[in-house]
Amino acid sequence: MSELITNIGELMTQDHEQGTRRNAAVVLEGERIAWVGDAVHAPAADTATDAQGRAVLPGWVDSHTHLVFAGDRTAEFEARMAGESYSAGGIGVTMAATRATGDYDLTRLALGRVAEAVSQGTTYLETKTGYGLDVEHEARSARIAATVADEVTFLGAHLVPAGADAEEYTELVCADMLRAVGPYVKWADVFCETGAFTPEQSRRVLAACRDAGLGLRVHGNQLGPGAGVALAVEFGAASVDHVNYLTDDDVASLSQSWSGWDAGQGTGARGTVATVLPACDLSTRQPLAPARRLLDAGVPVAIASNCNPGTSYTSSVAYCVTTAVLQMGLSVHEAVRAATWGGALALHRETGLDEDGRRAVGSITVGHRADLHMLKAPSATHLAYRPGIPLTHAVWRAGVRAV
Ligand code: NIG
Repeated sequence: MSELITNIGELMTQDHEQGTRRNAAVVLEGERIAWVGDAVHAPAADTATDAQGRAVLPGWVDSHTHLVFAGDRTAEFEARMAGESYSAGGIGVTMAATRATGDYDLTRLALGRVAEAVSQGTTYLETKTGYGLDVEHEARSARIAATVADEVTFLGAHLVPAGADAEEYTELVCADMLRAVGPYVKWADVFCETGAFTPEQSRRVLAACRDAGLGLRVHGNQLGPGAGVALAVEFGAASVDHVNYLTDDDVASLSQSWSGWDAGQGTGARGTVATVLPACDLSTRQPLAPARRLLDAGVPVAIASNCNPGTSYTSSVAYCVTTAVLQMGLSVHEAVRAATWGGALALHRETGLDEDGRRAVGSITVGHRADLHMLKAPSATHLAYRPGIPLTHAVWRAGVRAV
């Protein structure tokens, strides 16, 4: 079956050849994008949808979430709004609630969060373990994550559980836990931060996970300057996430990691994407990550929701895009790009097929997966111009109308 979506007011493709077009049309065929061009030249299709001048973007690619959890941390949030600062210890509260919840309920909760994200235009999602923190519960989280998300990341190194010895726990992450999650995960992550894992412990986790064949990501430089960025670049991690506190050397090394990349064509050797998490920055009252500075230095940036119960309890990528424009100094185009193509780049999914033959995401490109987000607005600018207004009109995921 094919579907023609025509009379699109603004089509922001994020494809390097197609760019942003007016009065455009797209043809979907099965799960793929089959044609992109001017509405007047559109080929016939089995069905047609009139966009009535609305804007169409790629679906959001949310490259950083923590959706497999139970429980609630409202009290911690209230305390923070009253002046307390965030500390990694709150992860233990969610760990206890998550361990105490059965598989059925944990899956239902995670699926509900995915549905909430899709209803707001997200079509591709990464999610992490990290609230199990022992072999049994991390493996269970990974198994559930693999049933609800497109990409799964092992985050056993999220927090040393209370009462555990940090060195012994790091060893457990690097050996038994890593083996147990292996069948379900593609990525590994480590929270390299004061109160979580030291640079030395983080290095051990990254080395073990790399040796096990996983792609790497790092939570780094969130609560203060630190070794997260340097480690991420050294290990060739696909992304370093948070990046609130960066030195000039951090920015330079991220930029240098892209020296083998052709930014014009979007080809070559990928470096380390800087993933900024604006909703988290606001909810923890941290300085906003320097997304403008990173882009100006030639570092590809992704924007993600970081949906989790502690630091960022929202799945709204649109909210993050709005914040990036209004408060981080990005243009609407840059912010939308970071939340679509940038997210795909951070997951190595911006081009080609993955090992399971799944199509690329993050741009409206012929042959890529037909993931589209139609706004209740004539242009993407309305995402920033009308902050807080739910602007999702329709969503296609792999060619299927989801909203
Ligand atoms: O990405 N930084 C570490 N992990 C989460 C917070 C998790 C929590 O507090 O529950 C984050 O912000």
